[in-house]
Amino acid sequence: MSTATVVENPLRVGMRLGRAAEPCAVVIFGASGDLAKRKLIPALYRLVQERLLPAEFAVVGLGRTPMSDEEYRDKMKEAVAEFSESKKVDEEVWRSFAAGLHYLPSNIDNAESYRELAQRLEEVAGARGTGGNRLFYLSVAPEFYAEAVKQLGEAGLLKQDNGWARVIIEKPFGTSLESARELNEQILRHLEESQVYRIDHYLGKETVQNLLVFRFANGIFEPLWNRQYVDHVQITNAETVGVEGRGGYYEKSGVVRDMIQNHVFQVLSLVAMEPPASLSAEDVRDEKIKAMHSARAFTPERVREECVRGQYGAGAIGGAAVPGYREEKGVARDSTTETYAMVTMWFDNWRWSGVPFYIRSGKRLAKRVTEIAIQFRAAPHALFGRAMEEVAPNQLVIRIQPDEGITLRVAAKVPGQVTHIRDVNMDFRYGASFGVQLAEAYERLILDCILGDSTLYARKDMTERGWELVSPILEEWGAHREDADFPNYEAGSWGPEASFKLLEQQGRHWRRP
Ligand code: BG6
Repeated sequence: MSTATVVENPLRVGMRLGRAAEPCAVVIFGASGDLAKRKLIPALYRLVQERLLPAEFAVVGLGRTPMSDEEYRDKMKEAVAEFSESKKVDEEVWRSFAAGLHYLPSNIDNAESYRELAQRLEEVAGARGTGGNRLFYLSVAPEFYAEAVKQLGEAGLLKQDNGWARVIIEKPFGTSLESARELNEQILRHLEESQVYRIDHYLGKETVQNLLVFRFANGIFEPLWNRQYVDHVQITNAETVGVEGRGGYYEKSGVVRDMIQNHVFQVLSLVAMEPPASLSAEDVRDEKIKAMHSARAFTPERVREECVRGQYGAGAIGGAAVPGYREEKGVARDSTTETYAMVTMWFDNWRWSGVPFYIRSGKRLAKRVTEIAIQFRAAPHALFGRAMEEVAPNQLVIRIQPDEGITLRVAAKVPGQVTHIRDVNMDFRYGASFGVQLAEAYERLILDCILGDSTLYARKDMTERGWELVSPILEEWGAHREDADFPNYEAGSWGPEASFKLLEQQGRHWRRP
Protein backbone atom coordinates (compact mmCIF):
# COMPACT_ATOMS: atom_id res chain seq x y z
CA MET A 1 0.00 0.00 0.00
CA SER A 2 1.19 3.45 -0.76
CA THR A 3 1.77 5.60 2.29
CA ALA A 4 1.55 8.82 0.30
CA THR A 5 -0.35 11.68 1.83
CA VAL A 6 -3.73 12.02 0.20
CA VAL A 7 -3.34 15.20 -1.72
CA GLU A 8 -5.33 17.55 -3.85
CA ASN A 9 -5.30 17.00 -7.54
CA PRO A 10 -2.93 19.34 -9.41
CA LEU A 11 -5.69 20.22 -11.79
CA ARG A 12 -7.26 22.23 -9.03
CA VAL A 13 -5.43 25.35 -9.90
CA GLY A 14 -4.02 27.15 -6.91
CA MET A 15 -4.30 24.20 -4.57
CA ARG A 16 -0.89 22.73 -5.16
CA LEU A 17 0.40 24.44 -2.06
CA GLY A 18 -1.94 22.25 -0.08
CA ARG A 19 0.09 19.22 -1.11
CA ALA A 20 3.15 18.21 0.83
CA ALA A 21 5.78 15.98 -0.70
CA GLU A 22 7.06 13.30 1.62
CA PRO A 23 10.74 12.55 2.20
CA CYS A 24 12.04 10.36 -0.62
CA ALA A 25 14.95 9.30 -2.77
CA VAL A 26 14.83 9.62 -6.55
CA VAL A 27 16.93 7.12 -8.49
CA ILE A 28 17.68 8.06 -12.08
CA PHE A 29 18.69 5.29 -14.47
CA GLY A 30 20.65 6.87 -17.32
CA ALA A 31 21.84 9.68 -15.07
CA SER A 32 24.52 10.99 -17.39
CA GLY A 33 22.28 10.83 -20.45
CA ASP A 34 20.76 13.65 -22.41
CA LEU A 35 17.33 13.68 -20.76
CA ALA A 36 18.81 13.71 -17.26
CA LYS A 37 21.01 16.68 -18.15
CA ARG A 38 18.46 18.67 -20.09
CA LYS A 39 15.29 17.98 -18.15
CA LEU A 40 15.42 15.77 -15.08
CA ILE A 41 18.16 17.32 -12.98
CA PRO A 42 17.12 20.91 -13.84
CA ALA A 43 13.51 20.00 -12.92
CA LEU A 44 14.54 18.49 -9.57
CA TYR A 45 16.75 21.47 -8.84
CA ARG A 46 13.83 23.83 -9.56
CA LEU A 47 11.53 21.85 -7.29
CA VAL A 48 14.07 22.27 -4.49
CA GLN A 49 14.41 25.96 -5.31
CA GLU A 50 10.67 26.41 -5.16
CA ARG A 51 10.60 24.56 -1.84
CA LEU A 52 8.23 21.97 -3.22
CA LEU A 53 10.42 19.15 -1.96
CA PRO A 54 11.32 18.53 1.68
CA ALA A 55 14.87 18.77 3.05
CA GLU A 56 14.80 14.98 3.43
CA PHE A 57 15.34 14.42 -0.24
CA ALA A 58 18.12 12.81 -2.27
CA VAL A 59 18.95 11.81 -5.82
CA VAL A 60 21.01 8.79 -6.80
CA GLY A 61 22.12 8.81 -10.40
CA LEU A 62 22.99 5.51 -12.07
CA GLY A 63 25.03 5.19 -15.23
CA ARG A 64 27.68 3.12 -16.94
CA THR A 65 30.34 5.84 -16.96
CA PRO A 66 32.58 5.63 -13.90
CA MET A 67 32.36 8.89 -11.97
CA SER A 68 32.57 10.08 -8.38
CA ASP A 69 29.78 11.96 -6.58
CA GLU A 70 31.86 15.13 -6.91
CA GLU A 71 32.39 14.72 -10.64
CA TYR A 72 28.70 14.06 -11.14
CA ARG A 73 27.74 17.13 -9.12
CA ASP A 74 30.06 19.32 -11.21
CA LYS A 75 28.60 18.00 -14.45
CA MET A 76 25.05 18.48 -13.26
CA LYS A 77 25.74 22.01 -12.05
CA GLU A 78 26.86 22.86 -15.58
CA ALA A 79 23.71 21.20 -16.91
CA VAL A 80 21.46 23.27 -14.66
CA ALA A 81 23.27 26.44 -15.74
CA GLU A 82 22.85 25.52 -19.38
CA PHE A 83 19.39 24.03 -19.49
CA SER A 84 17.32 25.61 -16.76
CA GLU A 85 14.98 28.37 -17.87
CA SER A 86 16.78 31.05 -15.84
CA LYS A 87 20.25 29.90 -17.04
CA LYS A 88 21.47 30.68 -13.56
CA VAL A 89 22.41 28.57 -10.58
CA ASP A 90 21.57 29.92 -7.15
CA GLU A 91 24.63 28.91 -5.09
CA GLU A 92 22.74 28.41 -1.87
CA VAL A 93 20.02 26.28 -3.44
CA TRP A 94 22.63 24.33 -5.35
CA ARG A 95 24.61 23.54 -2.17
CA SER A 96 21.59 22.06 -0.50
CA PHE A 97 20.56 20.16 -3.67
CA ALA A 98 24.10 18.91 -4.35
CA ALA A 99 24.53 17.63 -0.78
CA GLY A 100 21.88 15.04 -1.59
CA LEU A 101 23.09 14.30 -5.14
CA HIS A 102 24.94 11.00 -5.57
CA TYR A 103 26.23 8.88 -8.38
CA LEU A 104 26.70 5.16 -8.60
CA PRO A 105 28.40 3.55 -11.60
CA SER A 106 26.26 0.56 -12.47
CA ASN A 107 25.25 -1.99 -15.03
CA ILE A 108 21.58 -2.21 -15.76
CA ASP A 109 21.54 -5.96 -16.27
CA ASN A 110 23.86 -6.90 -13.44
CA ALA A 111 22.30 -8.01 -10.16
CA GLU A 112 25.36 -6.86 -8.26
CA SER A 113 24.61 -3.25 -9.27
CA TYR A 114 21.19 -3.52 -7.63
CA ARG A 115 22.69 -4.85 -4.40
CA GLU A 116 25.02 -1.85 -4.42
CA LEU A 117 22.07 0.40 -5.12
CA ALA A 118 20.11 -1.05 -2.20
CA GLN A 119 23.07 -0.42 0.05
CA ARG A 120 23.56 3.10 -1.21
CA LEU A 121 19.89 3.85 -0.66
CA GLU A 122 20.23 2.65 2.94
CA GLU A 123 23.18 4.96 3.46
CA VAL A 124 21.36 7.87 1.86
CA ALA A 125 18.28 7.21 3.99
CA GLY A 126 20.48 7.37 7.09
CA ALA A 127 22.34 10.49 6.05
CA ARG A 128 19.43 12.44 4.55
CA GLY A 129 16.43 11.06 6.40
CA THR A 130 14.69 10.09 3.15
CA GLY A 131 12.92 7.14 4.78
CA GLY A 132 11.73 4.24 2.66
CA ASN A 133 10.04 6.15 -0.18
CA ARG A 134 11.68 5.59 -3.56
CA LEU A 135 11.06 6.81 -7.04
CA PHE A 136 12.91 5.07 -9.88
CA TYR A 137 13.12 7.03 -13.12
CA LEU A 138 13.93 4.90 -16.17
CA SER A 139 15.62 7.26 -18.57
CA VAL A 140 17.41 4.56 -20.53
CA ALA A 141 17.02 2.89 -23.92
CA PRO A 142 13.56 1.23 -24.11
CA GLU A 143 15.03 -2.25 -24.45
CA PHE A 144 16.18 -1.94 -20.82
CA TYR A 145 12.83 -0.97 -19.23
CA ALA A 146 11.71 -4.52 -18.53
CA GLU A 147 15.16 -5.60 -17.41
CA ALA A 148 15.50 -2.72 -14.94
CA VAL A 149 12.06 -3.40 -13.45
CA LYS A 150 12.83 -7.12 -13.18
CA GLN A 151 16.17 -6.48 -11.46
CA LEU A 152 14.60 -3.93 -9.11
CA GLY A 153 11.90 -6.44 -8.26
CA GLU A 154 14.33 -9.27 -7.67
CA ALA A 155 16.49 -7.05 -5.47
CA GLY A 156 13.40 -6.33 -3.34
CA LEU A 157 13.52 -2.64 -4.19
CA LEU A 158 9.91 -2.46 -5.35
CA LYS A 159 8.43 -3.66 -2.07
CA GLN A 160 6.28 -1.16 -0.30
CA ASP A 161 6.42 -2.35 3.31
CA ASN A 162 8.55 0.51 4.44
CA GLY A 163 7.32 3.33 2.20
CA TRP A 164 6.26 3.60 -1.42
CA ALA A 165 8.11 2.54 -4.55
CA ARG A 166 7.14 4.05 -7.90
CA VAL A 167 8.64 3.75 -11.35
CA ILE A 168 8.52 6.39 -14.06
CA ILE A 169 8.91 4.93 -17.54
CA GLU A 170 9.95 7.17 -20.39
CA LYS A 171 8.60 6.99 -23.90
CA PRO A 172 8.53 5.22 -26.27
CA PHE A 173 6.32 2.71 -24.51
CA GLY A 174 6.58 -0.06 -27.08
CA THR A 175 6.84 0.33 -30.82
CA SER A 176 3.69 -1.61 -31.70
CA LEU A 177 0.60 -3.02 -30.00
CA GLU A 178 2.33 -6.36 -29.39
CA SER A 179 5.47 -4.84 -27.91
CA ALA A 180 3.49 -2.44 -25.69
CA ARG A 181 1.38 -5.34 -24.40
CA GLU A 182 4.45 -7.40 -23.77
CA LEU A 183 6.16 -4.57 -21.94
CA ASN A 184 3.09 -3.98 -19.79
CA GLU A 185 2.95 -7.64 -18.98
CA GLN A 186 6.65 -7.80 -18.12
CA ILE A 187 6.64 -4.82 -15.77
CA LEU A 188 3.34 -5.74 -14.13
CA ARG A 189 4.90 -8.99 -12.99
CA HIS A 190 6.89 -6.92 -10.52
CA LEU A 191 4.73 -3.85 -10.03
CA GLU A 192 1.15 -2.94 -9.29
CA GLU A 193 -0.40 -0.67 -11.93
CA SER A 194 -0.61 2.04 -9.23
CA GLN A 195 3.20 2.00 -8.98
CA VAL A 196 3.70 2.56 -12.72
CA TYR A 197 3.96 6.10 -14.07
CA ARG A 198 4.20 6.10 -17.88
CA ILE A 199 5.31 9.59 -18.68
CA ASP A 200 3.97 11.68 -21.53
CA HIS A 201 5.49 15.11 -21.15
CA TYR A 202 2.64 16.74 -23.10
CA LEU A 203 0.36 16.06 -20.13
CA GLY A 204 2.67 18.15 -17.97
CA LYS A 205 2.26 21.21 -20.17
CA GLU A 206 0.28 23.91 -18.40
CA THR A 207 -2.05 24.51 -21.32
CA VAL A 208 -2.87 20.85 -21.73
CA GLN A 209 -4.01 20.75 -18.11
CA ASN A 210 -5.90 23.96 -18.65
CA LEU A 211 -7.99 22.13 -21.23
CA LEU A 212 -9.89 20.43 -18.43
CA VAL A 213 -10.25 23.63 -16.45
CA PHE A 214 -11.37 25.50 -19.51
CA ARG A 215 -13.94 22.88 -20.46
CA PHE A 216 -15.29 21.99 -17.07
CA ALA A 217 -14.85 25.09 -14.91
CA ASN A 218 -16.70 27.33 -17.36
CA GLY A 219 -20.39 27.10 -17.98
CA ILE A 220 -20.46 28.50 -21.49
CA PHE A 221 -18.28 26.17 -23.54
CA GLU A 222 -19.45 22.70 -22.62
CA PRO A 223 -22.98 23.16 -24.00
CA LEU A 224 -21.40 24.00 -27.39
CA TRP A 225 -18.80 21.24 -27.28
CA ASN A 226 -20.63 18.71 -29.46
CA ARG A 227 -21.90 17.77 -32.89
CA GLN A 228 -24.71 20.27 -32.75
CA TYR A 229 -22.41 23.28 -32.77
CA VAL A 230 -19.00 22.03 -33.81
CA ASP A 231 -18.27 21.59 -37.51
CA HIS A 232 -14.86 20.00 -37.07
CA VAL A 233 -11.74 20.08 -34.92
CA GLN A 234 -8.17 20.65 -36.07
CA ILE A 235 -5.20 19.64 -33.99
CA THR A 236 -1.88 20.90 -35.25
CA ASN A 237 1.42 19.83 -33.81
CA ALA A 238 4.11 21.47 -35.88
CA GLU A 239 7.82 21.49 -35.19
CA THR A 240 10.54 23.44 -36.96
CA VAL A 241 13.26 21.11 -35.76
CA GLY A 242 14.33 18.09 -37.77
CA VAL A 243 15.47 14.83 -36.21
CA GLU A 244 18.18 16.56 -34.15
CA GLY A 245 20.87 13.93 -34.48
CA ARG A 246 18.43 11.12 -33.65
CA GLY A 247 18.21 9.82 -37.22
CA GLY A 248 18.83 6.22 -36.16
CA TYR A 249 15.94 6.26 -33.70
CA TYR A 250 13.64 8.20 -35.98
CA GLU A 251 14.16 5.90 -38.94
CA LYS A 252 12.48 3.12 -36.98
CA SER A 253 9.90 5.42 -35.51
CA GLY A 254 8.43 8.12 -37.76
CA VAL A 255 5.95 10.73 -36.66
CA VAL A 256 3.02 8.39 -36.02
CA ARG A 257 4.96 6.44 -33.42
CA ASP A 258 6.96 9.39 -32.14
CA MET A 259 4.18 11.94 -31.66
CA ILE A 260 0.69 10.82 -32.67
CA GLN A 261 0.29 7.54 -30.80
CA ASN A 262 1.22 9.22 -27.53
CA HIS A 263 1.36 13.04 -27.22
CA VAL A 264 -1.29 13.91 -29.79
CA PHE A 265 -3.70 11.19 -28.65
CA GLN A 266 -3.38 12.39 -25.07
CA VAL A 267 -4.36 15.90 -26.10
CA LEU A 268 -7.07 14.57 -28.39
CA SER A 269 -8.66 12.50 -25.62
CA LEU A 270 -8.87 15.56 -23.37
CA VAL A 271 -10.72 17.42 -26.11
CA ALA A 272 -13.09 14.57 -26.91
CA MET A 273 -13.80 13.11 -23.44
CA GLU A 274 -16.96 13.44 -21.38
CA PRO A 275 -16.86 15.30 -18.05
CA PRO A 276 -15.27 13.02 -15.44
CA ALA A 277 -17.15 12.10 -12.26
CA SER A 278 -14.32 13.61 -10.22
CA LEU A 279 -10.76 14.73 -10.70
CA SER A 280 -9.31 11.53 -9.32
CA ALA A 281 -6.72 9.89 -11.53
CA GLU A 282 -8.98 6.95 -12.23
CA ASP A 283 -12.07 8.99 -13.09
CA VAL A 284 -10.18 11.27 -15.47
CA ARG A 285 -8.38 8.41 -17.15
CA ASP A 286 -11.59 6.37 -17.38
CA GLU A 287 -13.18 9.13 -19.43
CA LYS A 288 -10.15 9.54 -21.65
CA ILE A 289 -10.02 5.86 -22.50
CA LYS A 290 -13.78 5.78 -23.02
CA ALA A 291 -13.44 8.49 -25.66
CA MET A 292 -10.59 6.64 -27.35
CA HIS A 293 -12.64 3.46 -27.38
CA SER A 294 -15.23 5.24 -29.47
CA ALA A 295 -12.58 6.40 -31.97
CA ARG A 296 -13.29 4.70 -35.26
CA ALA A 297 -10.79 2.02 -36.28
CA PHE A 298 -8.68 2.69 -39.35
CA THR A 299 -9.14 0.39 -42.31
CA PRO A 300 -6.76 0.28 -45.32
CA GLU A 301 -9.38 2.21 -47.23
CA ARG A 302 -9.68 4.90 -44.57
CA VAL A 303 -5.90 5.19 -44.46
CA ARG A 304 -5.80 5.77 -48.21
CA GLU A 305 -8.67 8.23 -48.23
CA GLU A 306 -8.39 10.06 -44.93
CA CYS A 307 -4.72 10.09 -44.05
CA VAL A 308 -1.66 11.66 -45.64
CA ARG A 309 2.00 10.92 -45.02
CA GLY A 310 4.93 13.14 -45.81
CA GLN A 311 8.66 13.48 -45.61
CA TYR A 312 10.59 16.73 -45.84
CA GLY A 313 13.07 17.56 -48.50
CA ALA A 314 15.67 20.32 -48.28
CA GLY A 315 14.39 23.81 -47.63
CA ALA A 316 14.83 26.73 -45.30
CA ILE A 317 13.77 27.40 -41.72
CA GLY A 318 13.93 30.97 -40.48
CA GLY A 319 15.97 31.94 -43.52
CA ALA A 320 18.63 29.25 -42.97
CA ALA A 321 19.00 26.40 -45.44
CA VAL A 322 18.40 22.96 -43.94
CA PRO A 323 18.96 19.52 -45.47
CA GLY A 324 16.20 17.09 -46.37
CA TYR A 325 15.38 14.16 -44.10
CA ARG A 326 17.22 11.70 -46.35
CA GLU A 327 20.38 13.77 -45.96
CA GLU A 328 20.27 13.62 -42.14
CA LYS A 329 22.83 11.52 -40.28
CA GLY A 330 21.69 7.96 -39.65
CA VAL A 331 18.94 8.12 -42.28
CA ALA A 332 18.80 5.90 -45.37
CA ARG A 333 19.13 7.78 -48.67
CA ASP A 334 15.92 6.13 -49.86
CA SER A 335 14.15 6.23 -46.51
CA THR A 336 10.36 5.96 -46.52
CA THR A 337 9.95 6.98 -42.89
CA GLU A 338 7.25 9.61 -42.49
CA THR A 339 8.17 12.91 -40.84
CA TYR A 340 4.65 14.29 -41.34
CA ALA A 341 1.28 12.70 -40.93
CA MET A 342 -2.27 13.86 -41.18
CA VAL A 343 -4.97 11.56 -39.89
CA THR A 344 -8.72 12.00 -39.75
CA MET A 345 -10.37 10.71 -36.62
CA TRP A 346 -14.06 10.09 -35.97
CA PHE A 347 -15.61 9.42 -32.60
CA ASP A 348 -18.63 7.21 -33.04
CA ASN A 349 -20.56 8.39 -30.03
CA TRP A 350 -23.45 10.70 -29.20
CA ARG A 351 -21.35 13.76 -28.67
CA TRP A 352 -19.20 13.64 -31.78
CA SER A 353 -21.05 11.61 -34.38
CA GLY A 354 -20.29 13.12 -37.80
CA VAL A 355 -17.65 15.59 -36.57
CA PRO A 356 -14.21 14.98 -38.10
CA PHE A 357 -11.08 15.59 -36.02
CA TYR A 358 -8.21 16.44 -38.36
CA ILE A 359 -4.82 15.89 -36.86
CA ARG A 360 -1.47 16.81 -38.32
CA SER A 361 1.99 16.52 -36.88
CA GLY A 362 5.28 17.07 -38.59
CA LYS A 363 8.89 18.06 -38.42
CA ARG A 364 10.56 20.91 -40.27
CA LEU A 365 7.32 22.79 -40.76
CA ALA A 366 7.03 26.55 -41.13
CA LYS A 367 6.50 27.36 -37.49
CA ARG A 368 6.67 25.71 -34.09
CA VAL A 369 3.11 25.53 -32.89
CA THR A 370 0.80 23.11 -31.13
CA GLU A 371 -2.83 24.12 -31.06
CA ILE A 372 -6.36 22.86 -31.01
CA ALA A 373 -8.88 24.69 -33.16
CA ILE A 374 -12.57 24.08 -32.59
CA GLN A 375 -14.37 25.21 -35.71
CA PHE A 376 -18.00 25.99 -35.03
CA ARG A 377 -20.80 25.77 -37.55
CA ALA A 378 -21.64 28.92 -39.47
CA ALA A 379 -24.57 31.05 -38.28
CA PRO A 380 -27.68 29.27 -39.60
CA HIS A 381 -28.95 32.25 -41.53
CA ALA A 382 -26.95 34.99 -43.32
CA LEU A 383 -28.99 37.90 -42.00
CA PHE A 384 -26.37 40.42 -43.09
CA GLY A 385 -26.15 39.00 -46.61
CA ARG A 386 -23.12 40.12 -48.60
CA ALA A 387 -21.70 42.06 -45.66
CA MET A 388 -20.88 38.67 -44.18
CA GLU A 389 -18.90 37.43 -47.16
CA GLU A 390 -15.55 37.94 -45.50
CA VAL A 391 -16.66 36.39 -42.25
CA ALA A 392 -15.50 32.93 -41.28
CA PRO A 393 -17.42 30.79 -38.79
CA ASN A 394 -16.49 31.14 -35.13
CA GLN A 395 -13.35 29.40 -34.10
CA LEU A 396 -11.91 28.71 -30.71
CA VAL A 397 -8.17 28.19 -30.72
CA ILE A 398 -6.34 26.77 -27.74
CA ARG A 399 -2.62 27.37 -28.16
CA ILE A 400 -0.62 24.78 -26.30
CA GLN A 401 2.74 26.15 -27.29
CA PRO A 402 4.40 28.55 -27.71
CA ASP A 403 2.61 31.80 -26.83
CA GLU A 404 0.19 29.81 -24.67
CA GLY A 405 -3.34 31.10 -24.64
CA ILE A 406 -6.84 30.97 -26.04
CA THR A 407 -8.38 32.93 -28.88
CA LEU A 408 -12.02 33.14 -29.86
CA ARG A 409 -12.76 34.38 -33.36
CA VAL A 410 -16.03 36.26 -33.67
CA ALA A 411 -17.63 38.50 -36.29
CA ALA A 412 -17.87 42.23 -35.51
CA LYS A 413 -19.13 45.30 -37.30
CA VAL A 414 -16.44 47.48 -38.79
CA PRO A 415 -17.09 51.06 -37.55
CA GLY A 416 -18.66 53.26 -40.23
CA GLN A 417 -21.94 54.15 -41.94
CA VAL A 418 -21.94 51.08 -44.17
CA THR A 419 -22.52 47.70 -42.55
CA HIS A 420 -19.33 45.86 -43.08
CA ILE A 421 -18.49 42.82 -40.98
CA ARG A 422 -15.11 41.36 -40.20
CA ASP A 423 -13.54 38.75 -37.93
CA VAL A 424 -11.93 39.89 -34.72
CA ASN A 425 -10.11 37.92 -32.07
CA MET A 426 -10.79 37.83 -28.36
CA ASP A 427 -7.51 36.86 -26.85
CA PHE A 428 -6.32 35.41 -23.59
CA ARG A 429 -2.58 35.06 -23.11
CA TYR A 430 -1.01 33.31 -20.19
CA GLY A 431 1.98 35.61 -20.15
CA ALA A 432 -0.10 38.78 -20.08
CA SER A 433 -2.80 37.54 -17.70
CA PHE A 434 -0.71 35.82 -15.08
CA GLY A 435 2.75 37.25 -15.65
CA VAL A 436 4.44 34.12 -14.38
CA GLN A 437 6.81 31.74 -16.02
CA LEU A 438 5.01 28.49 -16.79
CA ALA A 439 6.45 25.46 -15.02
CA GLU A 440 8.39 22.97 -17.08
CA ALA A 441 6.39 19.83 -17.82
CA TYR A 442 8.95 17.58 -16.15
CA GLU A 443 8.82 19.58 -12.91
CA ARG A 444 5.12 19.10 -12.57
CA LEU A 445 5.17 15.44 -13.56
CA ILE A 446 8.01 14.41 -11.27
CA LEU A 447 6.36 16.24 -8.39
CA ASP A 448 3.04 14.56 -9.12
CA CYS A 449 4.71 11.16 -9.04
CA ILE A 450 6.32 11.98 -5.68
CA LEU A 451 2.87 13.03 -4.49
CA GLY A 452 1.35 9.79 -5.74
CA ASP A 453 -0.90 11.45 -8.29
CA SER A 454 -1.02 9.62 -11.61
CA THR A 455 -3.71 11.71 -13.31
CA LEU A 456 -1.20 13.14 -15.75
CA TYR A 457 0.40 9.80 -16.58
CA ALA A 458 -0.69 7.29 -19.19
CA ARG A 459 -2.50 4.26 -17.91
CA LYS A 460 -1.89 0.78 -19.31
CA ASP A 461 -5.11 0.72 -21.34
CA MET A 462 -4.38 4.10 -22.94
CA THR A 463 -0.92 3.10 -24.18
CA GLU A 464 -2.35 -0.04 -25.71
CA ARG A 465 -5.34 1.72 -27.25
CA GLY A 466 -3.02 4.26 -28.85
CA TRP A 467 -1.10 1.48 -30.55
CA GLU A 468 -4.26 -0.35 -31.51
CA LEU A 469 -5.52 2.73 -33.31
CA VAL A 470 -2.34 3.55 -35.23
CA SER A 471 -1.41 -0.03 -36.16
CA PRO A 472 -3.54 -0.18 -39.33
CA ILE A 473 -2.02 3.12 -40.48
CA LEU A 474 1.51 1.85 -39.98
CA GLU A 475 0.63 -1.44 -41.66
CA GLU A 476 -0.96 0.15 -44.69
CA TRP A 477 1.88 2.60 -45.19
CA GLY A 478 4.46 -0.09 -44.50
CA ALA A 479 2.91 -2.38 -47.10
CA HIS A 480 2.95 0.33 -49.75
CA ARG A 481 6.29 2.02 -49.26
CA GLU A 482 6.77 2.35 -53.01
CA ASP A 483 3.78 4.71 -53.17
CA ALA A 484 5.22 7.14 -50.67
CA ASP A 485 6.70 9.48 -53.30
CA PHE A 486 9.05 11.09 -50.80
CA PRO A 487 10.20 13.77 -50.22
CA ASN A 488 6.87 15.47 -50.77
CA TYR A 489 7.19 18.67 -48.79
CA GLU A 490 9.84 21.28 -48.48
CA ALA A 491 11.39 22.01 -45.10
CA GLY A 492 9.87 25.28 -43.90
CA SER A 493 6.51 24.71 -45.61
CA TRP A 494 3.24 23.57 -44.05
CA GLY A 495 3.52 20.00 -45.24
CA PRO A 496 2.41 18.01 -48.29
CA GLU A 497 -0.10 19.46 -50.74
CA ALA A 498 -2.20 16.32 -50.40
CA SER A 499 -3.15 17.24 -46.86
CA PHE A 500 -4.49 20.62 -47.99
CA LYS A 501 -6.35 19.01 -50.88
CA LEU A 502 -7.93 16.44 -48.59
CA LEU A 503 -9.51 19.16 -46.47
CA GLU A 504 -10.47 21.25 -49.47
CA GLN A 505 -12.37 18.32 -50.95
CA GLN A 506 -14.52 18.52 -47.87
CA GLY A 507 -14.98 22.27 -48.15
CA ARG A 508 -12.64 22.98 -45.26
CA HIS A 509 -9.20 24.53 -44.85
CA TRP A 510 -6.25 24.02 -42.59
CA ARG A 511 -5.53 27.00 -40.41
CA ARG A 512 -2.26 28.79 -41.01
CA PRO A 513 -1.29 29.45 -37.41
C1 BG6 B 1 9.41 14.02 -28.15
C2 BG6 B 1 9.71 13.48 -29.53
O1 BG6 B 1 8.66 13.08 -27.41
O2 BG6 B 1 8.68 15.23 -28.25
C3 BG6 B 1 10.48 14.50 -30.33
O3 BG6 B 1 10.45 12.29 -29.43
C4 BG6 B 1 9.75 15.82 -30.34
O4 BG6 B 1 10.69 14.04 -31.65
C5 BG6 B 1 9.38 16.26 -28.93
O5 BG6 B 1 10.58 16.79 -30.96
C6 BG6 B 1 8.49 17.48 -28.96
O6 BG6 B 1 8.30 17.97 -27.66
P1 BG6 B 1 7.95 19.51 -27.42
O7 BG6 B 1 7.69 19.59 -25.95
O8 BG6 B 1 9.14 20.29 -27.85
O9 BG6 B 1 6.75 19.81 -28.24
